[in-house]
Amino acid sequence: MMPNLIYMDNAATTFPKPPNVLEDALAFYRNYGVNPGRSGTDLAREAEAMVAEARVALTSFFGAAGSPDRLVFTQNASDALNIAIQGTLQAGDHVIATLVDHNSVLRPIYHLSRYEGIDVTHVAFGADGVVDPEDVAKAIKANTKLVVMTHASNALGTVQPVQAVGAICRSRGVIFCVDVAQTAGVLPIDMEAMQADILCFTGHKSLMGPTGTGGMYVREGISVAPLRYGGTGVRSEYPDHLDEYPWRLECGTGNLMGIAGLLTAQKWLLREGVEKIHAREMALFAQLLNGLRNIEGCILYCAEETDQRVPVLSLNVAGMTANNVGTLLDVKFNVATRTGLQCAPKVHERLGTKAMKGTVRLSLGPFNTEAQIETAIEGVRDIAKRHGRTGGGVGISTCDAGRQRN
Ligand SMILES: Cc1ncc(COP(=O)(O)O)c(C=O)c1O
Repeated sequence: MMPNLIYMDNAATTFPKPPNVLEDALAFYRNYGVNPGRSGTDLAREAEAMVAEARVALTSFFGAAGSPDRLVFTQNASDALNIAIQGTLQAGDHVIATLVDHNSVLRPIYHLSRYEGIDVTHVAFGADGVVDPEDVAKAIKANTKLVVMTHASNALGTVQPVQAVGAICRSRGVIFCVDVAQTAGVLPIDMEAMQADILCFTGHKSLMGPTGTGGMYVREGISVAPLRYGGTGVRSEYPDHLDEYPWRLECGTGNLMGIAGLLTAQKWLLREGVEKIHAREMALFAQLLNGLRNIEGCILYCAEETDQRVPVLSLNVAGMTANNVGTLLDVKFNVATRTGLQCAPKVHERLGTKAMKGTVRLSLGPFNTEAQIETAIEGVRDIAKRHGRTGGGVGISTCDAGRQRN
C-alpha cells in the first residue's frame, strides 16, 4: 500500500484485505493448484474439498436453508446478476427494479427491454434514499416475474427494506432477487428472513476476498436457466449441460485461488463478527458526518440516518464538479474516493446531481482510522473554503439538496 494513502473507496473494492487472505490464496494455489472435480487424485480432492468448504461457509453466512450445492460461484456480482436476470425472464414478462440499483442490474434489464420484449418498471426512492415497499407492491402486474433490488445503495449507503419487499413478492408469487454486493460482510444477511429467492454477492467488497470472486444462491424450487454451457468435468458423455447445481450455473474451471482467499476472508469475518465490524465502521461514519455537516458549502445526500445504512457517503461542494473535489482530495490530502455516477446513474438523475457530474463518494472499510476521518474532513473543509462557492450555508443532507442548491 502506498505510504500515507487514505483509502476511502471500499464500496468499489475493499483495500487492503485482512491478514492472510492473499497469502492463503497463494499458498493454496502453490500446493493444490489443480483442477477440482476433474480427477480423483489426492491433489484434486484437496482442491475440491476447499471449494466445497467455501460453499458451505457462504451458504451458512447467508442464512440459506437449502443445500450448499445451490451456492454457485461466478466472476463477481455483475456476472451473478446477469445470470439471475437473464435466466429467469422470457419475452412477455415484466420485471421490477429500483432507481437505487447498480448498472449491473440496470443494464441487463435495459438490454432485455430493448431487444428481448421484457417490460420494465423502475420504482423510485424517497427523500431518505429508501424505496417504499408499497410502491413495489403497486408496480406488480399479472405478468410480473421478477423483482430485483439492491440491499444497500452503493451511491448513498441507504439500506433498502428487502424484508418487506420479500414478503410482498412471496405473497404475490413473484421471484425476489437481492443484490447484496454492498451489504454482505457489513450487515447480517439472512436469506430466509428476507424471503429472497436468489441472492447475488460479490467476494471482493465487504466479504474481503480477492477480485474475480462472487456468486449467487438459488433457493430450491426457483428455476434459473443457464446462460453458458459446458466444461463441468462431470458426465462428459451427455451433450446436454447438467441440470444439477452447482454445475447448472457454473461453466468451466473456476477461480480456485480467489475462492481460497475468499474462504480465509470468511473465517476472518466470522472471527471479527459482522455486527462488530458494522458498529465500528458506523462510528467512523458518524464522525465523518458530524465533521462534514459543519462545513460551509458541503452538500450531503441522504445522510440523515446512521442505523439503517452502510458506511457510504455522497457529497458535493457547492460550485465545484465532483471530479475536481475528488482530484484535490487525492492530490492534496492523499484521500482516495470515487467520483462521478458510481455506476448508479438513476440515483443521480433523481438527486439532480448530474450538473456536478455526480458526487464524491467516501466509503469506509474495516481498516480506516479516526485520524484518517479527520484528514478527510479537513480536506473537504479546505477545498470548500478555497475553491467552493461561499454563502450557501452548511451541509444539507436530504436527497433534494442537490436540486435546491446547484
Ligand atoms: C450494489 C452493487 N451491485 C453490484 C455491483 C457489481 O459488483 P462487481 O463489480 O463485483 O460485479 C456493485 C459494485 O460496485 C454494487 O455496488
